[in-house]
Formats: sequence, C-alpha cells, structure tokens
Amino acid sequence: SDFFVEKHLAGQHWLITAGPTREAIDPVRYISNHSSGKMGYAIAHAALRAGAKVTLISGPVTITPPVGCHIINVESAAEMHQQALEHVKEATTFVACAAVADYRVANVAQEKIKKSNDAMQLDLIKNHDIVADIAQLADKPFIVGFAAETQNVEQYARGKLMRKNLDLIAANDVAKAGQGFNSDDNALTLFSAVDKTEIPLASKHIVAKKLVSLINEHYQQRYRT
Ligand code: C5P
Repeated sequence: SDFFVEKHLAGQHWLITAGPTREAIDPVRYISNHSSGKMGYAIAHAALRAGAKVTLISGPVTITPPVGCHIINVESAAEMHQQALEHVKEATTFVACAAVADYRVANVAQEKIKKSNDAMQLDLIKNHDIVADIAQLADKPFIVGFAAETQNVEQYARGKLMRKNLDLIAANDVAKAGQGFNSDDNALTLFSAVDKTEIPLASKHIVAKKLVSLINEHYQQRYRT
C-alpha cells in the first residue's frame, strides 16, 4: 500500500493540464478532439502517490480525478490558459498533457445556428499556446510538454521542445494502433535537449509512473547545486 511508496516528490507541487478543450460554435455545438484525459490523470495519480501536491486543470472528460488532487474543471482553451497562468505561481513542475484546440471560433453565435445553405464557413482564430506562454515567464517551473504526432515523431517533437522553450517533451506516435488517444495503453519517448529515453508500451498507469520518475530525475539534475 501507500506506506511503502517512497515519496520522491515530497515538497514539489505539480501543475498538470489534461483532456481536450471545447471551442463553442453556438450554444449547442463545439469543436474538440479525441483526448480522453487518461494520460494526464494517470500522471496526476502517479505524482500524488510519489508525494507531490497536484493541481489538475482538466477539460471535459468522463473519468474521475484522483483523490487528493486540486481539480479545476474548464471547457475552452482560453479558460485553461487563464487557470494555468493563475496556478503556475505555486508550481515547481508544469506538465502540459492537455490536447488544447489550436483554434477557436471567431464569432461564437449567441443563438443556435439554423440550417439553411448546403455549405457554410466557420472563421477560426488561433488560441494562445499555454505551455509556450508559461515557458516565457521569468519565474517559471520545470516544464514538460507532450507531442502527439502521426509522422516524423522525433523531428517534430524536438522542434517543439526548442521552439516552445521546454525542458522535456514526451512524444507519442498516435498513428500506431493500441496506443495514444482513447486507448488504455501508451508508449512514449522522452526528449531533453541532449538525450532521449524510451518508455515502452504499457498501461497508461505504468507509463505515467515511469514518466514521473524520469521527470523527477531531470528536475533533480537541473536544480542540483
Ligand atoms: O504544438 P502542439 O499543440 O502539438 O504542442 C503540444 C504541446 O503543447 C502539448 O504539451 C500541449 O499540451 C501544449 N499546448 C498548449 N496550449 C496550446 C496548444 C498546445 O499548452 N494552445
């Protein structure tokens, strides 16, 4: 039981985003993506078990948050951005696991849009990048991003690591069957600027536990004096 678990993360405070965001079109419709939130919730669970305080900012999902975390429920990317910037002040580590919608609808209709023409257009505008904005803060935590890719996984993941100014990026190949998105299993490759570690295909709980301890190793390395 918990008694035997070593509290590697005692004194740390992890801020984690998880799940999808929903971008409203009108009062009854939205744009979203295939994130179940399972990976982010498993990371929150593993970090709690290892002794961290955990704040979990979650988009709409159907799973129950782990007992003991501070859960903040949001819908849109804008709400997630606002909550993340508000809660990052107390964080030692930020894990951006949410599948944030890249674009939102420019003019959200106040009333349900009626069906008329055979074709219609939606104007979209880019959302703020939460993890990139946090990485610009003067007093920033240790930052871990995610990259869900369907091709050129290493190249795109390393590009994001550098461009967004992250400490680590966890990449998954969502084109492979039986992992990523709604699956209960996942495999990740964790990149830092200088190295690369594979976490082989396993349940998201096992993968999360390994990821949390690898993040902590890099964190300890960074702040060791
Ligand atoms: O560029 P891309 O969206 O693929 O980057 C993925 C990483 O960026 C993930 O860590 C995701 O949580 C984060 N992200 C974010 N805010 C956005 C878009 C992505 O924090 N608006």
